[in-house]
Amino acid sequence: MALSGAEISYISGQKNNWRRWMWNQVKERLPKNKTAKDCLVLYLAGRENADLEEAKRRGFLPANMIAVEADKDVARSLRQQGVTTIAGNVVDVLNCWPLEHKVDVVILDLCAGLGLDMIRRVQAGLMQPCFVGAIVSINLQRGRDDVKAFKSQIGSWLSVIAPSLSGALRNNGP
Ligand SMILES: C[S@@+](CC[C@H](N)C(=O)[O-])C[C@H]1O[C@@H](n2cnc3c(N)ncnc32)[C@H](O)[C@@H]1O
Repeated sequence: MALSGAEISYISGQKNNWRRWMWNQVKERLPKNKTAKDCLVLYLAGRENADLEEAKRRGFLPANMIAVEADKDVARSLRQQGVTTIAGNVVDVLNCWPLEHKVDVVILDLCAGLGLDMIRRVQAGLMQPCFVGAIVSINLQRGRDDVKAFKSQIGSWLSVIAPSLSGALRNNGP
């Protein structure tokens, strides 16, 4: 079944600006002992995979980038483009990621709001040792997220798990 958002084009001025801003934030926050080319990235690519170019421009390697996609058609299309793609829900992927396989960057460019249940499941996944110190970007669809739950839950664990990112919350992206 197609997820809402799987069929939308994400190539637009506002989204492009947001994507560039987001990748700049990620690059700026790399730990001193890491360069972009050493980082393993998990991301929601979408059909157009527009993150890839932005990531490459900043030194991330396509070989170290793993797309996660719940929509089967989009996942198939990404694989046909040669993108390493896990077909499934990113929340499940976070929760069953091999603990010894460290992930450096997680881009959750969701096309939905984040309800309390999902927040808890994302939190449970990201609290695992393989994500400690990871740079995490979460993009919610404005108007659909549970703002109160977001502030009380995500805000508090972000300040613990990724303190540098909590200063970079932005509330006007597409
Ligand atoms: C907003 S789009 C990604 C856009 C892309 N990051 C860009 O900047 O152009 C989100 C994509 O992730 C997929 N998606 C949304 N929620 C998901 C989830 N929970 N697990 C896996 N894939 C999801 C959607 O089907 C869609 O293709």
